[in-house]
Amino acid sequence: MPKIACPAQRRLRALGEAIGNTPIFAITYRFRERVSTVYAKAEHLNLTGSIKDRMALHVLQTAYAAGLLHEGDTLAEATSGNAGIAFAALGRALGHRVSVCMPDWMSGERRALLASYGAEICLVSREEGGFLGSIRRTQEIAAAEHGVFLPRQFENAANVDAHRLGTAPELVVQLARRGLALDAFVAGVGTGGTVMGFSRAFEVSSPKTRVWAVEPKESPTLTTGYKVGTHRIQGISDEFIPAIVQLGELSGVLAVSDGDSILMARKLAATLGLGLGISSGCNFLAAVMAGEKLAGEKLAAGTHAPVVATVFPDCNKKYLSTALFNEEPVRHGYLTPEIELLELDLLPRPNLDS
Ligand SMILES: Cc1ncc(COP(=O)(O)O)c(C=O)c1O
Repeated sequence: MPKIACPAQRRLRALGEAIGNTPIFAITYRFRERVSTVYAKAEHLNLTGSIKDRMALHVLQTAYAAGLLHEGDTLAEATSGNAGIAFAALGRALGHRVSVCMPDWMSGERRALLASYGAEICLVSREEGGFLGSIRRTQEIAAAEHGVFLPRQFENAANVDAHRLGTAPELVVQLARRGLALDAFVAGVGTGGTVMGFSRAFEVSSPKTRVWAVEPKESPTLTTGYKVGTHRIQGISDEFIPAIVQLGELSGVLAVSDGDSILMARKLAATLGLGLGISSGCNFLAAVMAGEKLAGEKLAAGTHAPVVATVFPDCNKKYLSTALFNEEPVRHGYLTPEIELLELDLLPRPNLDS
């Protein structure tokens, strides 16, 4: 934790008490005769309702400590929603002007939330460059005005560190309390902060733990290197491979269909009472796929069933106007219809005093 020097930093520290230290849902399921468990960090329980609070908090703390951000500065960020909401809430609470540039096809709920947190929203159409256009727009704002801080979540090492130093060690402690050691971690890639943070955390402490990035089957940017197609898993796969993503450090990339992710998120809500966003359904399916990959190895070695973890990045409420709340057709190859959710357990927050 950086040294607390000014009132903004003290306020940031107070808000930080409501960020991180999340419980884990242990979800036991049956898939093709195999009974297994997925461990998912409940990141929708953060201050503004998403995993992005961790990144925004750490980026702002680091920038204040390094003297890169000062009271009265404007924050300008390109985001597909959750990061903007996190920066808007924290930034406004610290007295900053917050300018959020985002593609104009993100859900209306995201825009309304940003406005309610006091952010100025700048929408960028596909013709104006979509996501990459949004990043360019923040650079134009910084060039035109003095005192503009660009968090640059797609390239800022503090984004990775939020998970390397926070989310990943929390998960390891929570599992260890149950006598469990992690075999694999999976996460959909937006900026890649989550997946790279976990990968870097395990590099030293448990190098055998596999870490898979996850992308939409309909738009496999990570495996092709460029934008192909469109998909409905808001928050991941933003048209390009972010600078902080080092695919060579990961075990590989898993692809999940957006329709399957929607069906899975709906099933988690209707069966277990977990109201989650589409990327949570996607991450859960990727965790099931990782479990399938490792089950054979474990069986051969005569050891326990693989321990696979992921994150639930946000809740379902930002998706009221999206396909998450419509009937979704089952297509050939989807996994959700074959997954029977059996049991829900909770692993308590890592810091039990908070
Ligand atoms: C809903 C949702 N899921 C997943 C992610 C991906 O997280 P990361 O940016 O750490 O890769 C994001 C990022 O914004 C998100 O908003």
